[in-house]
Amino acid sequence: MESALEWHTARALLEWQLEMGVDEAISDAPVDRFAVEVQAKERAAEKKAQAPQAGPARVKRPEIDPVAEAEKAAAAAQDLDALKAAMAGFEHCELKKGARNLVFADGKRGARVMFVGEAPGRDEDQQGKPFVGRAGQLLDRMLEPVGLRRSENVYITNVLPWRPPQNRDPKPDEIAMLRPFLKRHIALAKPDVLVIVGNISCQALLGKRGITRLRGQWTEAEGRPALPMFHPAYLLRNPPAKRDAWSDMLELKARLRALA
Ligand code: URA
Repeated sequence: MESALEWHTARALLEWQLEMGVDEAISDAPVDRFAVEVQAKERAAEKKAQAPQAGPARVKRPEIDPVAEAEKAAAAAQDLDALKAAMAGFEHCELKKGARNLVFADGKRGARVMFVGEAPGRDEDQQGKPFVGRAGQLLDRMLEPVGLRRSENVYITNVLPWRPPQNRDPKPDEIAMLRPFLKRHIALAKPDVLVIVGNISCQALLGKRGITRLRGQWTEAEGRPALPMFHPAYLLRNPPAKRDAWSDMLELKARLRALA
């Protein structure tokens, strides 16, 4: 049993504590808050040291360069069928997703003349062949009088093998991405002369536009004689320009005769 003195001493101590501002009894034993903080830090460090080591830092996947991919795929193709397959398997061009068919080429393989158009339209996309719509029918009618027929002695392709949405103009990055295939196409087809049809094709093969100035003037593309001409779709909209196109066809005929 506690003595009266101890009781009074204890009470006096409590009163003193109250006077000093104590208002809550938390625990019998004092807690050293500074020590608690240090211990918590030590425990965290220990945990970190024991944690399984993270693997090597994730290697960031290198960005794919679609032009380099196209160059690789095109260079690997050893003939026209292999090139067609390589283009069909090329997954880096968004146009492919919106197109029904790959439009590779039409006409006679091994022909002395190769026409390079711009891009497939609706009819070409549906049929998987270049120049089969109205513009293509006009092209056929222009070829006939100079002795050219796609079933016999003309080979035809486009800069782009997939139809752009709403027939919009191809974008520069699309042209750049697909140009390696076009270059390889020309190298494998080995025509004596190229006919560059329209401005987009001039951009892709000559690096410049201005078909009104360029048409009818022989130049060189991919190491071959090349003749730019108006696009037949333009001729459908501007019939008076057919006169110039006819003159270009005669020029082509003369060149083929001279090279024969
Ligand atoms: N215009 C082109 O340039 N190519 C086609 O195949 C059809 C229309």
